[in-house]
Amino acid sequence: MMLNIENIRAQFPILAQQIHGKNLVYLDNGATTQKPISVINAITNYYKNENSNVHRGVHFLSGLATKKLEKTRNAVKKFIGARYNHEIIFTKGATDSINLVANGYSTLLKKGDEIIISELEHHSNIVPWQICCENCGASLKIIPIKDNGELDMDCFYNMISKNTKIVAISHISNTLGTVNPVEKIISKAHELGAKVLIDGAQATTHVNLNMIDLDADYYVFSAHKMYGPTGVGVLYGKEEALNSLPVYQGGGEMIKDVSFKKTTYAPLPHKFEAGTPNIAGIIALNEAITFVLKLGIENIYNYERELLEYATNEILKIKGVVIYGNSKNKTGIISFNIDGIHPYDIGVIIDKFGVAIRTGHHCTQPLMERFKIPGTARISFAVYNTIEEINICIEAIKKAKSMLV
Ligand SMILES: Cc1ncc(COP(=O)(O)O)c(C=O)c1O
Repeated sequence: MMLNIENIRAQFPILAQQIHGKNLVYLDNGATTQKPISVINAITNYYKNENSNVHRGVHFLSGLATKKLEKTRNAVKKFIGARYNHEIIFTKGATDSINLVANGYSTLLKKGDEIIISELEHHSNIVPWQICCENCGASLKIIPIKDNGELDMDCFYNMISKNTKIVAISHISNTLGTVNPVEKIISKAHELGAKVLIDGAQATTHVNLNMIDLDADYYVFSAHKMYGPTGVGVLYGKEEALNSLPVYQGGGEMIKDVSFKKTTYAPLPHKFEAGTPNIAGIIALNEAITFVLKLGIENIYNYERELLEYATNEILKIKGVVIYGNSKNKTGIISFNIDGIHPYDIGVIIDKFGVAIRTGHHCTQPLMERFKIPGTARISFAVYNTIEEINICIEAIKKAKSMLV
């Protein structure tokens, strides 16, 4: 299906904005996507008409908020093809979800146990595991990446063993766009009795997900990277995988009975949902899912691939450009540098032309070390971007280059 991009753009009020007197060209979608009006309206409507706390009240509004929150849980379950609603835990985001699991593992693992991650992980899929290892004495093993930005799977097959208890890997790299072979990783890990957590922060609008087929034990993502609000995330876990984890945070909502003698905990999913959640955000996540499903994930992926191919060709015409991450299976992310120019300077100058990109290490410092660079400039696409915007961005980069060399 051909997407009607003009119609899609019209649903994003922020895109009509001017920055420094120029039309906004927003190409920082890997950091966060913009929000369609349906998502914005869901948030304002909640606070205008529905605001109430969930799960506790007997009154109408509390019942309504609870119903809507649980409706999102059901929508997420369907969206990612999970078995049960109680396998969907609402969190603050992908980072929060990973911390929940890593914290649990710090009580389950001991010296001699191993955790495998990769060289291209976001800090939020590195540091929680480092903390986990510090707490329990387990050790962290790292799958290296090849020059083209793909995981070195031979190394993975060599390093995984019966000592491996969990493998935590991103589905798609936020810096390189590499789509990792998570199916192979999951199947090998399971062969050896290890569990697998997939960091899907960059994947939910690019890959049709089915948890039953994928067979990941845990899968995490953030609403704000899929046209939803900030402050909301999901931890999916297979029922038995979630049940095997100890409670994370204590408080209201997550208990069955509290007494000073002995407190007992609520069953899934509430066991992991202490305190009042971001109710408005969770309700709005349902709208984000509807938005994505209406367009179709395959259509979004294909359209962004067209943008990626066009932009890659154009940017490579600029002398001195190096692109990091050239795997065949790659989503709409271009990390690049220009010989002799610091990426930060490119970002600052093209901002003056209304073009928003990200520069720096993208929360992947070990990956920067791997390429022996301080950082990159990163263009990352969403479904509302256009060829025209790419042309504006390329012209702005050329101007920046001419000013800097
Ligand atoms: C691959 C990846 N993992 C995890 C995260 C963390 O997501 P959040 O900041 O929403 O918790 C990000 C955010 O950039 C990411 O790109």
